[in-house]
Amino acid sequence: SYEQLEQFDKQYVWHPFTQMKSYLEEKPLIIERGKGSYLYDVDGNRYLDGYASLWVNVHGHNDPELNEALHEQIEKISHSTLLGSANVPSILLAKKLVEIWGGKLSKVFYSDTGAAAVEIALKMAYQYWQNIDPVRYKHKNKFISLKEAYHGDTIGAVSVGGMDLFHRIFRPLLFERIEVPSPYVYRMDEYGDEEEIVNYCLKQLEETLEQRHSEVAGMIVEPLVQGAAGIITHPEGFLKGVETLCRKYNILFICDEVAVGFGRTGTLFACEQEEVEPDIVCLGKGITGGYLPLAATLTTEEIYSAFLGEVHENKTFFHGHTYTGNQLSCSVALKNIELIEKRHLVSDVQRKAQALAGKLQKLYELPVVGDVRQKGLMIGIEIVKDKKTKEIFDRSEQIEHKMILEARKRGLIIRPLGPVLTFIPVLAMTDEQLESSVDIIFAAINATVQANKVKLM
Ligand code: LLP
Repeated sequence: SYEQLEQFDKQYVWHPFTQMKSYLEEKPLIIERGKGSYLYDVDGNRYLDGYASLWVNVHGHNDPELNEALHEQIEKISHSTLLGSANVPSILLAKKLVEIWGGKLSKVFYSDTGAAAVEIALKMAYQYWQNIDPVRYKHKNKFISLKEAYHGDTIGAVSVGGMDLFHRIFRPLLFERIEVPSPYVYRMDEYGDEEEIVNYCLKQLEETLEQRHSEVAGMIVEPLVQGAAGIITHPEGFLKGVETLCRKYNILFICDEVAVGFGRTGTLFACEQEEVEPDIVCLGKGITGGYLPLAATLTTEEIYSAFLGEVHENKTFFHGHTYTGNQLSCSVALKNIELIEKRHLVSDVQRKAQALAGKLQKLYELPVVGDVRQKGLMIGIEIVKDKKTKEIFDRSEQIEHKMILEARKRGLIIRPLGPVLTFIPVLAMTDEQLESSVDIIFAAINATVQANKVKLM
């Protein structure tokens, strides 16, 4: 029963990114099953999955074709190691990933979470320089990343992170990072319009590179949208500008597509929209359609070949997790990609995102909605106390959390990231479901404002 499960959950489970003291005071949501864009709790209540189960779900839950792919594979084998040997689905998937990327990336290194894909990218980038010339590139041991960057929760990924709230406490454990500003247009009024903000950020990057490029192995960016930072959407031209500067100053250009890859922003990969060609790309989340943990780090022939040598030269990439290339994950990923193609999911996301844009503007009628940001089906709604000063509510008020609880009551699951409500739905959500989600978000914000008699300025 719910009560029994609730008791055991509270007794035994420590939830991630969750203040357990508050969690223990609330009625937890206990999911039992899913179908399409809906999640069902143990009492049979139905919710629209407006966070795609942490940004991963593509075709909906419990998809018959993905289920079948999994069943077929499980009847053969679930796991064997990729360390020194191969398996069928990981070979076929690697070929497919290189084909759909469609650029100069030609090698696939597997892992099992986005953070690991990032660790691999960083270690690969560093060792690349050491392998090609350890004397000349002795000092290339630092990474540049953006203000408010988020690349995962392991120590290397946290080292390139720029979110004070998540990362500050760990600073003494981290390697040095060089931070450059990111174009957070809503909060950079004093820098001018979008174009001027982009120019400012790129100028800061160029000054940094001019002085320090010889110490820098690479720069890592979330292309187009900084997700965890609160859906910070970058204006056109920023990503391209970053690429150009990485080339000019001879540092590796690393794109973290973990959150934005596989259709989320309206193209299969975010990099396509600015026609950039990174040296290393991290993929995760949507790669298995939201079924199983899998991630991949893709790189170029040039980087790969820098690791070739005689065994005793120690140019080997000494990295690899136990479940690397797991057959179940790889076979469901392969089917996921086939279905993305067969169902024309990417153009469908683009069309639905456009159709939703007008509806989202309605949220500005609410007195606390300061900014609505959208790229494809990645949406952030920034909640402010005062639209003029853009001041946010005090954290102790937990206003955004109250809003998502109101949404849950009305049958929609979403999550707040600081002062930003994030709506990152299952990509297969229908137009009607998307529209009613926005209606629920409107009602939930409104109800919270009314119930708390929020003092507006
Ligand atoms: N890179 C990017 C751009 C990501 O957004 C994420 C996870 C990762 C890497 C790490 O992937 P993982 O190791 O988790 O598979 N903690 C926030 C949201 C983070 C969203 C997850 N992104 C929250 O409280 O909702």
